[in-house]
Order: sequence, then structure tokens, then C-alpha cells
Amino acid sequence: MPLPKNFLWGGATAANQCEGAYAEGGRGLANVDVIPYGKDRFAVESGMQKMLELDDEHFYPACGAIDMYHRYKEDIRLFGEMGFRVYRLSIGWTRIFPNGDEEEPNEEGLRFYEDLFRECHKYGIEPLVTITHFDCPIHLIKKYGGWRNRKLVDFYGRLVRVLFERYKGLVKYWLTFNEINMLLHAPFMGAGIVLEEGEDRFATLYTAAHHELVASALATKIAHEVDPENKVGCMLAAGMYYPCTCRPEDVRAAQMRGQENYFFIDVQSRGYYPNYAKKMFERRGFTLPELPGDAALLRENTVDFISFSYYQSRTAAAQAEGMKMGEGNGFGGPKNPYLKESEWGWPVDPLGLRNTMNEIYDRYQKPLFIVENGLGAKDELIPDGKGSYTVEDDYRIAYLRDHIRAFKECVEEDGVELLGYITWGPIDLVSAGTGEMSKRYGFIYVDRDDLGRGTLNRYRKKSFYWYKKVIESNGEDLD
Ligand code: BG6
Repeated sequence: MPLPKNFLWGGATAANQCEGAYAEGGRGLANVDVIPYGKDRFAVESGMQKMLELDDEHFYPACGAIDMYHRYKEDIRLFGEMGFRVYRLSIGWTRIFPNGDEEEPNEEGLRFYEDLFRECHKYGIEPLVTITHFDCPIHLIKKYGGWRNRKLVDFYGRLVRVLFERYKGLVKYWLTFNEINMLLHAPFMGAGIVLEEGEDRFATLYTAAHHELVASALATKIAHEVDPENKVGCMLAAGMYYPCTCRPEDVRAAQMRGQENYFFIDVQSRGYYPNYAKKMFERRGFTLPELPGDAALLRENTVDFISFSYYQSRTAAAQAEGMKMGEGNGFGGPKNPYLKESEWGWPVDPLGLRNTMNEIYDRYQKPLFIVENGLGAKDELIPDGKGSYTVEDDYRIAYLRDHIRAFKECVEEDGVELLGYITWGPIDLVSAGTGEMSKRYGFIYVDRDDLGRGTLNRYRKKSFYWYKKVIESNGEDLD
């Protein structure tokens, strides 16, 4: 059985990784702007090092990024040329509310996204909007402490109401928080949290988690009220945990890591806190900062679909000491000796996508949506023989082809419902993890290097023509 005719093929970006123009159009400063390139990046991202301003000693790649703010028409035209049916992008919160706590939104920011959505529709592209993709106004961090403060639920509520009302009829697919589970791994990026010395990390992170979960349910409620056509999804940084061996202890370790991962989605999809989480809170002496009405809000406003990113499967062991550890999308674990790795050490596991999809679908029984997948690799720009340049990125084509085969088998043979497939970074952009430009995911090459040098010109890679063919044939022609 082939994929459904209305299957949504496309690509995804995040405002801070592509827009640039960080101080234009009335935009305010956000956490993502002040995460530097280089050795301090990880400490800042993970909330261990406080950096709430730009300084002269660091390079901040998000500030200029690939300048999509000024070039979105050219970029969307290229997406249209590939035949995209969906383009996933995120809203820069501080373009709409520069400080985050204003009463009135910034019209210039609203107009920017309105124009961008209209541009998408010109090419028959459906926009899918991530409301927050790792972004939080700096002012909300300085004044309120980020998502550890309940007030952020109200500010977020104000933001989403403005978005749903303004873009009614232009946007119908929404994601509330990108990779919501990343909050536990990169608290500054995920929730605008800088951990104070001596602070109870567990209590702070699960308090912020509760606030984001309530905000997500509130957004779902408002979205459905404003337009019953709206479809709202949660977004998980996915990847099934494999036990390192069949020792029951390793299987249990994998199960527990899985629960930690699914915790957020369990609440967003089922509408209540799972018992394993309540027990964990009890053991840690943590009381959920619930207000009257929260439980009902969560219960009555569950998501319509489950979206997720997939780059790799993961491994877990009861005793990881002495084992070789591997890299991954924020979730390193013992190395899996059965898998090859990317240049950045991320395991490559196409079958893991099918395994993961089955696990998620079994758990929630709601339509799935792959909203990120791709290979970060170094590319070499070469003359194309026609007076321009290109990249012979057969390695990227091979990665994507294997993953597309895997999800097609999952749909066709396992019967999993899948709304669409969206690759990460269809145009090269700044890496969230490392801040590099040289870690490229795109079908379109952008001439810019890790330190922001380059013409910013765009060039079609070999994979550009390949993906166009894949979409045209609705996934039948993968050669
Ligand atoms: C996901 C994020 O974690 O992975 C993206 O949602 C990110 O923002 C992507 O860019 C790839 O990770 P990286 O670190 O290679 O950019």
C-alpha cells in the first residue's frame, strides 16, 4: 500500500538557527541569541554558565544565522521548486513580544510571519508552526527566572492567542514546544533556566516541566477554540532505548530511560501524570506545583498528533562504567557496536526509526508526524559545470533513503498512521548543539562558515534534485 496522496513531505527550520536579523523589526533579545560558538557553548546551553548579554569576546552565530529574515522569499521559492507540501518553521517569540510580558504585540513581527505564510501558500506549501523552538525572551529570564516561574504560562498564553487569532486560515498545524524533553538536558535552551549554585536541579526542572505542560494544554485549548480546524501536536526528541544486553537489569535500565523520555508526552497525549512519575516525585520529596484547575486543563486538552525528531536510537545499561560512551542528539549513552556513526559521532540506525515509531504508536494510538530527521555532514562546494556550484552529497541521500524506506515499511507493513515526513534543515543553518555552520543538513548549500564569513549565496546540492523526485513520486522513486 503506497503512502496516502496527501502525505506531507517537507523540511524544518527554527527561527534562531536561520533568521538572523536579531535586532531588526523591533525584535527583543532571546536566550538563543546569547548562546555562543566555541568552548562555552555547552555550559551556557545547559544552564551551568550564566550569559544573559552579548559580549565582545564571543561569536554568537544565531544573531546573523543565514539571514533568512531578508531572504525568505528566495528560500521558500527553492522549497517550492523541490515540491514541498509542508514547511515547518518556528516563531521568534521576541519578534512578537520583544520582552515577553507586554500587553500588546509588535505589529512588525506579526506582519513578517504573515507575509512568510502567504509566501508558502503561493507554492501550495502548508506551514507547520513550532510556537517555541528553544526560545525564551531574555527579559523573562532576568525578571522572572524563565520557566521555573508560573507567570510564564500567562505570557505564553498571551502569545499563542495572538498567533492563533492572527494566523487563522493561514496556519492549521501547530507544535507547542520543540523537543520538550530537552528541558531536562539543556535547561537554558529548553526553558531559559540558569541553575543557581546549590539549587535543587530536580525540583527546578520538574517545576519548569509542569509549567510548560500546563502552557501546552492551554495552547491546545485556545487553538481549538479559535479554530476547530487547528491541529496541535506535542514534539519529542525521540529515539528508542535499546538495552545494552538482554540482562534483565539492562532491560530495566532501558525501560527507565524510556519513561524519562516519554514523561512529557505521556502527559500531553494522555492528559495526566503517569504513576511512575508520581512515585519518582514522592521518592525525591518533590511536590508538583499544581494549581486548582491544572489537572482538568491537562485532561481536557490533549494533543491531536504526536510529532517527533529522530536522528538515532539510544542505548542504556545498568552499569555503564568502563563502557565506551557515544555522542548523540543531547542523549549520549554507551556506544552501540552494531551501528555506524556520522562524522559527529551520532549513531545511524534507520531500522531504529521503525522501532521507535512502533513504540510511540503502541503507547499513544494517535497519528505520528516525523518533523525532523537528517544527517549533519561536512560538504564540499564544487563547480557544477554550468557556471554555478553544487555539492555531491551522496552520503546524505543514502541516509535519507534508508530512513524513508524504514518509515514506509512501518506505515505499509505495521499499519502505523503517519501524517508526514519533514527533514531537518532543508537549507544549511546553524547547528543547535555546536553552533557550527559546517555541520550541514541541507538540500541547499549556504555559503557561510563557522565564524559567520561568506557570501550567504544559496546553491542546490545533488540531494536537492533527489528529494524533488522523491516528493514527486510520493516516496516511490528513491533511487
Ligand atoms: C534537534 C533540534 O535537536 O536537532 C534542532 O530540534 C537541531 O534545533 C537538530 O538543530 C540537529 O541538531 P544539531 O545539534 O546537529 O543542530
